[in-house]
Amino acid sequence: MKTALIGCGAISGNHLVAIGKLPDVKVVALCDVIAKRAEEARNKYAPDARVYTDYIKMLDEVKPDVVHIATPHYLHCEMACEALARGIHVFLEKPACISEAELDRLLKAEKTSSAKISVCFQNRLNASVIAAHELADRFGGVVSARASVTWNRDEAYYRSEEWRGKAKTEGGGVLINQAIHELDLMIGFLGTPLNVAARVANHRHVGVIDVEDTAELLIGFDGGATGFFTATTAFGCDAPNFNELFCRNGKRISLLGDRLYLDGEPFNVPGDGHSSPGKECWGAGHIRLIRRFYEALKTGDPMPVTLSSAAVPLRVLFAAYLSSQRGDPVMIKQERKNAK
Ligand SMILES: NC(=O)c1ccc[n+]([C@@H]2O[C@H](COP(=O)([O-])OP(=O)(O)OC[C@H]3O[C@@H](n4cnc5c(N)ncnc54)[C@H](O)[C@@H]3O)[C@@H](O)[C@H]2O)c1
Repeated sequence: MKTALIGCGAISGNHLVAIGKLPDVKVVALCDVIAKRAEEARNKYAPDARVYTDYIKMLDEVKPDVVHIATPHYLHCEMACEALARGIHVFLEKPACISEAELDRLLKAEKTSSAKISVCFQNRLNASVIAAHELADRFGGVVSARASVTWNRDEAYYRSEEWRGKAKTEGGGVLINQAIHELDLMIGFLGTPLNVAARVANHRHVGVIDVEDTAELLIGFDGGATGFFTATTAFGCDAPNFNELFCRNGKRISLLGDRLYLDGEPFNVPGDGHSSPGKECWGAGHIRLIRRFYEALKTGDPMPVTLSSAAVPLRVLFAAYLSSQRGDPVMIKQERKNAK
C-alpha cells in the first residue's frame, strides 16, 4: 500500500515509526510547508519518499492509497475532505476538526467518499483502558466518573508554533488539544452525553494565548450517569492523567496514566511500555492504532476509531465552550441517525 503524510512536525515521527513496522506499507511522499522538515523526516524514516510543500500537488501526483494528516487543527477538515474526495483513505490526527460546521462537512465528505477515515485516539487501545472496560461491564456499568488532566505547557511551548494557543488555528485550548483524549475515554465509559455545564478560563497564560488553559465540565449522560471533568495546562508538571469510574455494584476502577487500580489496589494488566518517539504523555498507542487501521483497510472491517465516534468528544467540547460563554448548561448535539 502506498502512503503519504502531511505535516512533518512533532508528532509525525510517531506515525512514521508505526508505518515502518508494517511490511506491506510504504511511505512514498511527505509534505510540509517547511521543506526542511519534510526532508528531515524523509532522511530519518523514508529515504525513497518524494518531498512536497503543496499537499494538493502531492495527492494528485503521487495518488497514495492512504494519507496521514498531522497538521495544525484548522487544516484537518480541509485536508481530509480533499483526500476523501480523491478516494484516498485518511488517518487523521485529533481533533478531527474545530467547529460544528467543519464536523458536518467532514461527515458528509466521509459519506460520499469511497475511502475510509479514522481518527487518532490511540489511548482507546491502551491495555489498561481495555481492562477497565471489561471490569466496568462485569460490575454493572459506570454510574459516575471523574477525570482530570493536569499538564504543564509554558510560554515557550505556546510560542513554539504560530498556530498554538489561538482560537482561529487551534480551535480552543486545553480541552480540544491536550485533554480531548481523556474526555474521549470518559465518554467511552459513560455512554451518550446529553448535556454539559462548563466553565473555561485562561488563568496563567494571559497575553500568551487567546484560548483557555483551564476547563471544568459537568456532563450529564443518557441513563443518568454524571461525568466530572477538569483540565489545565497551568499545572506545575505533567502529572499522569486520572480517570476514575464508580460502578453500579459499588466497585471503583481508577486509571492513573497507564496503571489500573481496583478499589485502590493495583490491578495487574500487561504494561504498555513506551516505544514511540516524542513525549511520554503521548503514549505508545500510535503503533497499535495505525496497525489496526491498515488491517481494517485490508479486511474491510470497521475503522478502529470511526469518525462518528470521534465526533462525540468534539460535540461535548463545542457545547462546553458555548455553556461557558452563556453561563448556562447546553444540550449536546446528537448524531443524525442516517450518518454512515
Ligand atoms: N495523538 C496524540 O497524542 C498527539 C500528540 C501530539 C500532537 N497531536 C496532534 O497532531 C497534530 C500536529 O501536532 P504537532 O504537535 O506535530 O504540531 P507541529 O506544529 O509540530 O507540526 C505540524 C506541522 O504541519 C506543518 N504544516 C502547517 N501547515 C501546513 C500545510 N498547509 N501543508 C503541509 N504542512 C503544514 C507545519 O510546518 C508543521 O511542521 C495536531 O493535530 C495535534 O493535536 C496528537
